[in-house]
Amino acid sequence: MKTILATGGLGFIGSHTCISLINKGYDVLIVDSLVNSKLNVLSKIKDICSILKIHNKGKIFFEKGDIRDRNWLFQIFEDFKKEGRSIDAVIHFAGLKSVEESILSPLRYWDENLNITLSLLSVMDQFDCKTLVFSSSATIYKTKLNKKIDEDSFTEPINAYGNTKLAIEKILLDLSRNRQSYWRIANLRYFNPVGAHSTSLIGEDPKNKANNIFPIMIKVLEKKLDKLSIFGKDWPTLDGTCVRDYIHVMDLADSHVAALRFLISNDPQVINLNIGTGEGTSVLELVNKFNKVNNCKIPFEFSDRRNGDSPFVVADNSLSLKLLDWKPNMSLEDICKDTWNWFIKKNKN
Ligand code: NAD
Ligand code: UFG
Repeated sequence: MKTILATGGLGFIGSHTCISLINKGYDVLIVDSLVNSKLNVLSKIKDICSILKIHNKGKIFFEKGDIRDRNWLFQIFEDFKKEGRSIDAVIHFAGLKSVEESILSPLRYWDENLNITLSLLSVMDQFDCKTLVFSSSATIYKTKLNKKIDEDSFTEPINAYGNTKLAIEKILLDLSRNRQSYWRIANLRYFNPVGAHSTSLIGEDPKNKANNIFPIMIKVLEKKLDKLSIFGKDWPTLDGTCVRDYIHVMDLADSHVAALRFLISNDPQVINLNIGTGEGTSVLELVNKFNKVNNCKIPFEFSDRRNGDSPFVVADNSLSLKLLDWKPNMSLEDICKDTWNWFIKKNKN
C-alpha cells in the first residue's frame, strides 16, 4: 500500500494526519474544496516535512474541488491510474462539522456530508479501491452519566451533524453485507480533538466560526472576547462543569495510520473504534491547566447550560488500544502548550 487519498486533507485533522502518513512512507493525495481550510496549509505541511527531515519519505499531491462532483473525482482516480499509480486506500475527513450550523441548516449538512460520501464510495467502487478510514464522531452516542462510552453503547444523535455521521456509518455497514465485496472500513469515532503541531505551523484554523472551547479561550486571551462563558456550573459532575475527553490532534493523526495498518492486515470488515484518551477533564480543570501551563489568566463567568451538551463524554478506548498498534502519548499540558504556541505564531505572521 502506497498512496492514500485524504479527502478534506487540508483541514484541521487531515493536515496533521498527512504528516503522520508521510512519516510512515505513504504518498498522500489530498482533495479539498477549501470550503473550511486554506491553501497555505499545503505549503505548511511541506515545510513541516522538511523540518522533520521526512520529506523524502513520501510525496504529496493536491487537487482542489468538490467531492460531490463525481465526474471530477472519477477523473482524478483515472489520471492516477494512467500514470501507472493507484489509490490504495482513502481517509475520509471531508465534511461540514459544526453542530450549531447543522441545527440552523440541516439540509446543507445532509446534502454535503451524505453526497460527498456517496460520490466518494461510488468512485472507489469503480476503481476497486475498498479500504476506507472514516472520520466519525462521539457525538453519535447517547451518553450516560459518569460512564465511559464503549463502541457498543447506544447511538442516538441529537442534531443534524450527528445524524449525518450515523447515517454514513449505516451506509458503510450496508457495503460490508455483501461478503463478496471485500470492503475494509474503520469508523474512527473521535472524542474531542484539540492541540496543534509542535512546530506551531499548523493547527485549527477554520474559515467558519468555531464555538469550541479552545478557539474561544484563545479569543479571550486575544481580547476579542471579554470572558469565557462556562456553560453551566450545576452539572452532576465533581466540580459542576462538563467533562470531556480531549485528545491531541497528533495522537489522533497517528490513529489513522494504525487503523490503515489494521485494516490491511486483517480480513475485510467494518469496525467501529473510539479514538480518545480515556481520561476526563472538566471545563474548570481545563481552564486552570491552560492558565498554569501558559502562565496566563483566562477570565470566565458561569452562564446557562448550552443546549445539547452532555455532562460526561469520555471514551472507553480499550478496543482501539487492543487492536491498533497505537496509544495516545500526549498530555493535557502538551495540548495547552501547543495550542497557545500555534496561536502566538499565527498572529505574528
Ligand atoms: P475541517 O473543517 O477542518 O476539515 C474538513 C475539510 O473538508 C476542510 O478542509 C474542508 O474544506 C473540506 N471539505 C468540506 N466539504 C468538502 C467537499 N464537498 N469537497 C471537498 N472538500 C470538502 O474539520 P476537521 O476538524 O479536520 O474534521 C475532519 C473530520 O472529522 C470531519 O468529517 C468532522 O466531522 C470529523 N470530526 C471532527 C471533530 C472535531 O472536533 N474537529 C470531532 C469529531 C469528528
Ligand atoms: N464550553 C464552554 N464554553 C464555551 C465553549 C465550550 O463552557 O464557550 C464547554 C462545553 O459546554 C463542553 C466543553 O466546553 O462542556 C467542550 O465543548 P466543545 O464545544 O469544545 O466540544 P463538544 O464536546 O461540545 O463537541 C465536540 C466537537 C463535536 C463532536 C463532539 C464529540 O465540537 O464536533 O466533540 O463528542 F461531535
